[in-house]
Amino acid sequence: MTIEHPDAPFWMTGNFAPVGESIETTDLKITGEIPRELNGRYLRNGPNPRAKASVDWFLGEGMIHGVKISDGKANWYRNRYVQTPLLDFEEITNENRLVRGNSLANTHIVGHADKVLALQETQIPIEMSGDLDTVGPYDFGGKLTGNMTAHPKICPKTGEMLFFGYGIMPPFLTYYRVSPHGELVQSEVIDVKAATMVHDFAITENYVLFMDLPMLWDLTKLGKPGIPISYDESYGARLGVMPRTGTSKDVQWFEIEPCYVYHTMNAYERGSKVIFHAPRMIGYTSVGMKNPPVPKLHRWTIDLDNGSVTEAPLDDLGVDFPMTSPLLVGQPHQHGYAAEFDTGGAPNLLGFHKYDMETGASTCHRLKDGRTGSEAIFIPANDPKSEDDGYLMTYVYDPSEKLSELVILNAKEMSDNPIARIHLQARVPAGFHGSWIAD
Ligand SMILES: [Fe+2]
Repeated sequence: MTIEHPDAPFWMTGNFAPVGESIETTDLKITGEIPRELNGRYLRNGPNPRAKASVDWFLGEGMIHGVKISDGKANWYRNRYVQTPLLDFEEITNENRLVRGNSLANTHIVGHADKVLALQETQIPIEMSGDLDTVGPYDFGGKLTGNMTAHPKICPKTGEMLFFGYGIMPPFLTYYRVSPHGELVQSEVIDVKAATMVHDFAITENYVLFMDLPMLWDLTKLGKPGIPISYDESYGARLGVMPRTGTSKDVQWFEIEPCYVYHTMNAYERGSKVIFHAPRMIGYTSVGMKNPPVPKLHRWTIDLDNGSVTEAPLDDLGVDFPMTSPLLVGQPHQHGYAAEFDTGGAPNLLGFHKYDMETGASTCHRLKDGRTGSEAIFIPANDPKSEDDGYLMTYVYDPSEKLSELVILNAKEMSDNPIARIHLQARVPAGFHGSWIAD
């Protein structure tokens, strides 16, 4: 279903438009060679409105696109809707999508402790099988009492999954810690003044970092179409640093220049300082605004001893979907990866940058001939010899064929030539986030 009417919203045109359900292709043709050490599934989530245009790009029902890889072969590509209770409704409204369990489940899909969870931030997870069948809503055995962000963090050292959830009613922010075995072992309400949209957070070796930024929910507009969230600078903007096992009273808050941040790249400690990297937006006035400002990579340096924070831009390019090696989440990192956005019209991804975080300089794998990308994830090599010894993996759409490929890049080299292109014989719409789930 592609609407090429000039007034159609961008998410119903080109490669943003939804696709039909339940395609499966097998024994996929490959250009190049899939590294034999990659054995697992690449699963990626995104909105795929069913019947008619959703009122916002963020509000289509979640569809997972997956590719299974083993021994240098691509065994299958398939797409499946997350079977959420919302599929039974004629229309998605703020009322029905905010009922507990009725998740759009369209934002991310994450594996932890043998569970695969489809996530959307105003909801609880929906558990999936590795073959993309829906198991059902998942609340950690009744211990998850509020919502779960779509951006949990898995600590590479402890194996814990740390996350938060925000509520549009109190409690507005809650922190959760899940053991390496998947047991939810800590829940802490974090005191903040109001319901803000908190899309992501960050961790370090000893701390978690919350963003309390001035994108506020307006509950008086819940009955209207769209997402009632807008910017109010008078709320202020703060970063909160809390020990991982701490409570709300242990949070140290730091005032920063007002801005909005969707996604964090990484954070880490250097002595008594916390370094935080993320693409930052200035002038983002509401969710759904026309021509939103592009995010630019930024660094905050938080001094836990003297309570100060300094901040500085790292680069001028419009980038998002920031990433670091999963082996270095919360740890010092030399490299970061992010996708470059088209700054006019639809937010197409034009290429992938590998940053040197000291200098802000980057090398780019630029997509050519009108090809557009999706989030690129970093997968470390099995026995990495350096931080960037690994692969970037992403779906790339070819408009001349109207088909997509799963593309694997050598992250060390970032050359123009992918090491493998897996031809899916299907179109994968531009979507949101995904994960590599190793066998
Ligand atoms: Fe996100």
